[in-house]
Parts: sequence; structure tokens; C-alpha cells
Amino acid sequence: MELGIRGRRAVITGASGGIGRAIAGALAAEGVDVALIARSSDLLAQAATKITDETGVRAIAIPADLRDIEAIQSAAKTAQEQLGQIDILVNSAGAIPASSLESLSDEALHSAWSLKLSGYVRMSRALLPEMRTRGWGRIVNIIGLGGKNPSAGHMYGSAANAALMNFTGALALEVATEGVLVNAINPGMIKSERILEMAQKWADDAGMPLEELMDKQTAALPMHRMGTLEEVADVATFLCSERCTYVHGAIIPVAGAMGVTL
Ligand SMILES: NC(=O)c1ccc[n+]([C@@H]2O[C@H](COP(=O)([O-])OP(=O)(O)OC[C@H]3O[C@@H](n4cnc5c(N)ncnc54)[C@H](OP(=O)(O)O)[C@@H]3O)[C@@H](O)[C@H]2O)c1
Repeated sequence: MELGIRGRRAVITGASGGIGRAIAGALAAEGVDVALIARSSDLLAQAATKITDETGVRAIAIPADLRDIEAIQSAAKTAQEQLGQIDILVNSAGAIPASSLESLSDEALHSAWSLKLSGYVRMSRALLPEMRTRGWGRIVNIIGLGGKNPSAGHMYGSAANAALMNFTGALALEVATEGVLVNAINPGMIKSERILEMAQKWADDAGMPLEELMDKQTAALPMHRMGTLEEVADVATFLCSERCTYVHGAIIPVAGAMGVTL
């Protein structure tokens, strides 16, 4: 399928690893110039070089801590200055630890929500005005299935995800006649560094070796396997594309029927 986005320009947050990195690679493979944002400057620089070598697009690394509003505004400006007007935003930078009511300090909670909740909202506010002016844009928020399923062990992540699902729908309504499509993906269990870190915490809490916990968790999944980064990236790339025209305000699970609801 020709996706029609060759020459477009995208900002991807959380692009030093995991889902964000995979989406940056998938968009670049479609001919999209990409700005990769996260904190780890070495990983970002390596990823940008590899993407350019493999696809020939312009790929730039913008190190930034997205818990900070000034860092967000500055990163957005750098992307616009170096790539040109930004057509596509993928928000994927998130790192809310597995947590119950008392297990996160107030400072850690503020930090977690500053990144995953405020970070997505602020980056949208920084880049959407230009998309609206030109009448074309795509925003994809990588959220998390937990937003639909309250979980005592992932309380603050699930709460942020529920808020982001609502924000995604509301923003889609606000721009519905302006040529900008806003959608979200809810990953289920996707094999990334982050899921392995969370699994380690659950294994420690349960006093169980990590491998045993992973085997148990995988066996409990409807498809008896976790998803891959590429499986999320493929759906995201379609949502960012010219072929996506009437999917708007959607929250799409990429979760292998995990938590399936009508
Ligand atoms: N994997 C799953 O199964 C799953 C399930 C549900 C939801 N999700 C969501 O999907 C998104 C991506 O998750 P992932 O699995 O790809 O996680 P990951 O592999 O840990 O990647 C997270 C990305 O966020 C960046 N990041 C973390 N703190 C940051 C900060 N303060 N400022 C800027 N960037 C920061 C990390 O880079 P640096 O450390 O270099 O900053 C990294 O690039 C997250 O929002 C997560 O909640 C994932």
C-alpha cells in the first residue's frame, strides 16, 4: 500500500528506544524525515545515523527531558528549524513505574505525570498550531491498555492513560474539520525495555524469578505471546499516513485481544 507521506516531516518522542524508536524507523522507511526526541543523546544519535543510512531520509536527534515545558518548546522549535514545518507528531515518551497508592513519592508521581500526561499535551500544543494553519496533520498518542482497566499494581500509569484517552478524543473533536487527524494506540504487552523493567518489579514483589513470571504472564495472554515493536509501529504508520482519512478520535488496541471489550 502506498501511504503517500514521502517528504512529510515527523517528530517522535521517546525515540531513543522501544516503541518510539520502532515508529521512527517505520516512518523513515516510508520516506518521512524524522526528529527523534528523548534524553539519551548517544542512543538518539546512533538511531538517527542508522535511520539515515538505511533509508536516506533526514533524521535528527534532539536530546530533551520532556518533563520540562521549556525543554518541550525548545525541542519542538529545533525540529521546526532543522526539518521544516512538522506534519506528524507521535507521542511515545512515557515511563510511569509500576505502583500502588503509597509506593511512589509525591515527587516521583509528579515527575511521572509530567512526562506521560503533561508531556503529550504540551508537545501537541507546541506542534498542532502549524498543522492547523496548513490544514494537514497527524497526531498519534501511544497510550496503554491500562487506561481502560484499573489496576492496583499500575495505578498511576493507568490513571494517566485514562486521561490521555479522553484528551485524544477531545482534541479530535476540536480539530475535526481542520485536516488534522488525532488518534491513539493502546499497546497491550509489547516486548520493550520498559515492559521488562515492570516485569522485574512484579517478579521481585512476588518473590519469583523474572523468567518464571514472564512465562506465566505470556501463557495468560490470549495469543500466548507478547506483541512486537514492529506490530505497533505498523499501525502507527498507517495512522500517520495519507491513506488514513476517516479514522479520527480512535483509540486502537494493539494488544492481541488482551482485555478485549465491545
Ligand atoms: N511496552 C508496552 O507493552 C507498553 C504497554 C502500554 C503502554 N506503553 C506505552 O508506550 C510508550 C512507549 O513505551 P516503551 O515500551 O517503548 O518504553 P521504553 O522502551 O522504555 O521507551 C520509553 C522512551 O521514553 C523516553 N523517555 C523516558 N523518560 C523521558 C524523559 N524524561 N524525557 C524524554 N524522553 C523520555 C526513553 O528515552 P530516554 O530514557 O533516553 O529519555 C525512551 O525513548 C510509553 O508511553 C508506555 O507507557 C507501552
